[in-house]
Amino acid sequence: MTPPRPLHFAAFVMNTASHITHGLWRAPDGDQIRFNDLDLWVDLAKRLEAGGFDAIFFADVVGLYGDYDGGWEHHAKLGLQIPSNDPLVILSALASHTEHLGLAFTAGPIQEAPFNFARRVSTLDHASNGRIAWNIVTSALENGWRNFGHDGLLAHDDRYAWADEYLDVLYKLWEGSWDDGALLADRASGVYADPTKIHKIHHVSERYRVEGPHLVAPSPQRTPLLFQAGSSPVGRDFAARNAEAQFIVSPDPENARKLIDDTRRLVEGHGRHRDDLKFFQGLSFVVGSTEEEARRKEADLEERIDIDGMIAHFGGSLGIDLGAYEADTPIDLIHTEGGQSGLAWLRESVDGRTPTLGDLTRLRARGTRVVGTPEQIADRLAQWRDAGVDGVNVINQVIPGSYDELIEHVFPVLRERGLARDGYAEGTLRRKLFGHDKLPDRHPAAQYRGAFAAAEVAA
Ligand SMILES: Cc1cc2nc3c(=O)[nH]c(=O)nc-3n(C[C@H](O)[C@H](O)[C@H](O)COP(=O)(O)O)c2cc1C
Repeated sequence: MTPPRPLHFAAFVMNTASHITHGLWRAPDGDQIRFNDLDLWVDLAKRLEAGGFDAIFFADVVGLYGDYDGGWEHHAKLGLQIPSNDPLVILSALASHTEHLGLAFTAGPIQEAPFNFARRVSTLDHASNGRIAWNIVTSALENGWRNFGHDGLLAHDDRYAWADEYLDVLYKLWEGSWDDGALLADRASGVYADPTKIHKIHHVSERYRVEGPHLVAPSPQRTPLLFQAGSSPVGRDFAARNAEAQFIVSPDPENARKLIDDTRRLVEGHGRHRDDLKFFQGLSFVVGSTEEEARRKEADLEERIDIDGMIAHFGGSLGIDLGAYEADTPIDLIHTEGGQSGLAWLRESVDGRTPTLGDLTRLRARGTRVVGTPEQIADRLAQWRDAGVDGVNVINQVIPGSYDELIEHVFPVLRERGLARDGYAEGTLRRKLFGHDKLPDRHPAAQYRGAFAAAEVAA
């Protein structure tokens, strides 16, 4: 008999009022309306850890979503990810109030020079004893690019090429600049660090010139745990080379199975082991003590969801003003240089015909929602797991209620069935997920270990 394979659980959140399930910031049972209050996040992090979640996972954007109905006034009115705060800044507070919870944040290469980014992330990895994860995104919002001095969005595949260049600098700083054993902090000899074991990286590429050395001594994980979100062919190949976890939003377990099998083959093609990349499916939950109760709660939820906000969000992430189209417009007529995973998801969700915008409004909210009793939810999660999914990124309706409900009513059933872990393993986030603190030697970052010492000797 194969041993049970428990799923990992991350809470998918954003430091804003309205992240995914739009309209719910108004809900009297939700607290996200006060997202500026650090206590909201500290309290949530503690609840998640007490309940056994593996991580809190912050999405982020650095600009407005594309226009809706000719402008962005709707976004402001709906609170659609504006205002939104920097997730990185609050992670050290969450680290100091928790011991085991993974702390994942989202950022893209356009936001910050790699030297400074590497330094801030290493500092956080020290501050959290090795619990930091970075979700590498390739910012698909036009306005975001204009906020960082660009004329507009770089073409889709070129954004991933940029991410490769960015990672190359980071890998050199995180893995190659300091040898193991360089930090002595030896009171007796008076030597703090051994300079022969610290190296400049002398990086020169199209966009970056970075001399180094890295200013931070190696943190518990060195490179943070690497997440990636984006499942276009080039996004998948990027994940297969670099990522340790991929955030996917497949419409059902069968489509997830295909995506996962294909991507795992790519992982192996790049000289890594197929299990070096884990897959986290985005799902939300509506829990009832009976199926009828769960369906009633779902109907109530649908009443409260702001459909305009859902369409504005989806179109805005594609860079298409969906406010300008009729509901029966076939989706195939629409081309985008923005995110392509969303369109693929929609096509997979509708069998045998071209999906329309009307399908979008219906499916966008429901596609990744699991509704039922704890036992029914466990049955469905077993199907996702059997399709190859390793974890769930749990989309909330309200904070903290959606997570409390899952922890209180569903986790006990999952634990009974071996679908959720009981208690935490010790150590860094990477050790908890993979059994080791550092990236394995077969990861591309490992090529830089010891590389600069050799270069100095040669010079
Ligand atoms: C599930 C998922 C979550 C994402 N989260 C973010 C995010 O928080 N911030 C962001 O700027 N982009 C986010 N993205 C966008 C991707 O990083 C990427 O820019 C976009 O999806 C285009 O790549 P693709 O065509 O490979 O999907 C996300 C994409 C997916 C599929």
